[in-house]
Amino acid sequence: MKGIVLAGGSGSRLYPATFGLSKQLLPIYDKPMIYYPLSLLMLAGIRDLLVISTPEDLPLYRRVLGGGEQWGVQFSYAEQPKPEGLAQAFIIGEAWIANGPCALVLGDNLIFGGHLSDLLLNAQQRARGATVFAYQVRDPERYGVVEFDADGRAVGIVEKPHAPQSHWAVTGLYFYDSRVTEFARRLKPSPRGELEITEVNRFYLDEGDLHVERLARGCAWLDAGLPESLLQAANFVQTIQARQGMLVGCPEEVAYRKGFIDAAQLRAQAKRMGNTELGRILLELADYPP
Ligand code: DAU
Repeated sequence: MKGIVLAGGSGSRLYPATFGLSKQLLPIYDKPMIYYPLSLLMLAGIRDLLVISTPEDLPLYRRVLGGGEQWGVQFSYAEQPKPEGLAQAFIIGEAWIANGPCALVLGDNLIFGGHLSDLLLNAQQRARGATVFAYQVRDPERYGVVEFDADGRAVGIVEKPHAPQSHWAVTGLYFYDSRVTEFARRLKPSPRGELEITEVNRFYLDEGDLHVERLARGCAWLDAGLPESLLQAANFVQTIQARQGMLVGCPEEVAYRKGFIDAAQLRAQAKRMGNTELGRILLELADYPP
């Protein structure tokens, strides 16, 4: 399976912090924001990755991520001139996807929690249909929202409903089978002028092919689109890393644990980080088998 990281948009809700830098390159504690969603796709075993961003910002992503050999993955790059919707990613990436299955993650989403690896692998290996992840939130009207019947089956999905039928928001991580490009091509812009990912999910739901994984209460889902959520995300990462000595959203660690790179390559990446805490933790990690 291939995977797209969507890192476009203007980051206007973070002005002036994003006047000079793409939102998804702002740091969440000790790493660029995009490292967190990228790590999710890598954790799912995906090594063929397309980064989509604005024409102005794409060169920055090339500089930060390069070709991907440092993490044993391969990066391709594509432009999204205007933020015309999340589902546009599949149209922009159509030739690259080449009628195969494809995952999508939003460049500002961070998900962390026990058993996540298994959930991601299951989603990646599912031969038919789509998998989305739902997370209970206090303010569902800000998100795509899933409605369940009495047996817990998903029966509806609505983008930013005025009267949400549940508190289960759809996170910005999606896994699709090879029909996704065809479904994206059928979309018309919504009233807000976007090709909505929720409409793609509704196609799958209508076919009886939408799998909704509910994330457990111990799991964290954060998006870093506002000054306060950026700070919350940074505090979260710092707290977990300091308390457990485990890394959150670190592509080098994921690459090593997944066998994409070996200990020598991990050491080389750790050295690149100089005299930092992250560099020290990675150097230590290289002394143990993945
Ligand atoms: O975060 C999860 C939510 O993401 C889902 O629950 C919603 O169903 C989904 O529509 C989306 O909600 P938003 O409308 O709030 O997404 P937003 O416009 O904030 O865009 C999400 C990220 O994707 C943001 O970092 C900017 C980037 N983006 C957005 C659009 C519309 C792009 O790169 N290109 C785009 O065309």
